[in-house]
Amino acid sequence: MSPRSCLRSLRLLVFAVFSAAASNWLYLAKLSSVGSISEEETCEKLKGLIQRQVQMCKRNLEVMDSVRRGAQLAIEECQYQFRNRRWNCSTLDSLPVFGKVVTQGTREAAFVYAISSAGVAFAVTRACSSGELEKCGCDRTVHGVSPQGFQWSGCSDNIAYGVAFSQSFVDVRERSKGASSSRALMNLHNNEAGRKVGHALKEKFDGATEVEPRRVGSSRALVPRNAQFKPHTDEDLVYLEPSPDFCEQDMRSGVLGTRGRTCNKTSKAIDGCELLCCGRGFHTALVELAERCSCKFHWCCFVKCRQCHRLVELHTCR
Ligand SMILES: *[C@@H]1O[C@H](CO)[C@@H](O)[C@H](O)[C@H]1NC(C)=O
Ligand SMILES: *[C@@H]1O[C@H](CO)[C@@H](O)[C@H](O)[C@H]1NC(C)=O
Repeated sequence: MSPRSCLRSLRLLVFAVFSAAASNWLYLAKLSSVGSISEEETCEKLKGLIQRQVQMCKRNLEVMDSVRRGAQLAIEECQYQFRNRRWNCSTLDSLPVFGKVVTQGTREAAFVYAISSAGVAFAVTRACSSGELEKCGCDRTVHGVSPQGFQWSGCSDNIAYGVAFSQSFVDVRERSKGASSSRALMNLHNNEAGRKVGHALKEKFDGATEVEPRRVGSSRALVPRNAQFKPHTDEDLVYLEPSPDFCEQDMRSGVLGTRGRTCNKTSKAIDGCELLCCGRGFHTALVELAERCSCKFHWCCFVKCRQCHRLVELHTCR
């Protein structure tokens, strides 16, 4: 290998490792409680944090349980939103929690970045509003731009604090010096979009814009790959690479495949057996569902029901 191409692949490798680890803090979701993060020492031992996040952890011990909760909320919401899709947001017990699916610049990665930074902003805001956090809004090292667009730092209202904390904590890796790769730009954009649009994110997933980096003056920007598309807004999700089809199991990438997934025989959409099973066909089984039925209200005060059994057809992908 020539020194030049060697240098180039080294640089590519550095960027790859760099963005591969950018969402590793989501591993916090796997902890049962960060309530045990009562000492600065614990921050050093947390898996998945980069050094700057460890420092933020030490300075903001009381906020860390909200970060953990935010990561959990994000994963729960992702699994709910994607329950009927080929990739169902399943997590692994290793790093990165979503496998290679989100280390590439795909639509799925865009969604995960957006929802997780929204999750942290939400969980921190909620903890502030409920009075759980003592120094809420008063960490002067946390600063950013509020949803209303004003520069914010120091003590302020709870939403601004939640958003700013998420910006500082979640974006820290991409904001570090030298993080000007296309992936860093993509991640930052989607993090910010998540904090802006919240629950409308799933729609944004379907309408995400495929972008490519372009030099604009002395810096780089992401522009739509298809020039006919209108430029994306701050609230749209953007992605750089097409997604795999997620049909077959590929444990090296953390893709489980769709074998055994429940599908809808009559639907023509992605939850339908045809698309979800990738044309492999499906099994049909009759399963008995137990339900409460003929419920009666008794004076006073309870409800008595019978158990009814109903046979339903269950279709699962081959
Ligand atoms: C996702 O799909 C896999 C099979 O592909 C299944 O084992 C898993 O339970 C599903 N996860 C969720 C959260 O639905
Ligand atoms: C299956 O899909 C059909 C057509 O889209 C829909 O009407 C029906 O409610 C779906 N069934 C379930 C169990 O989701």
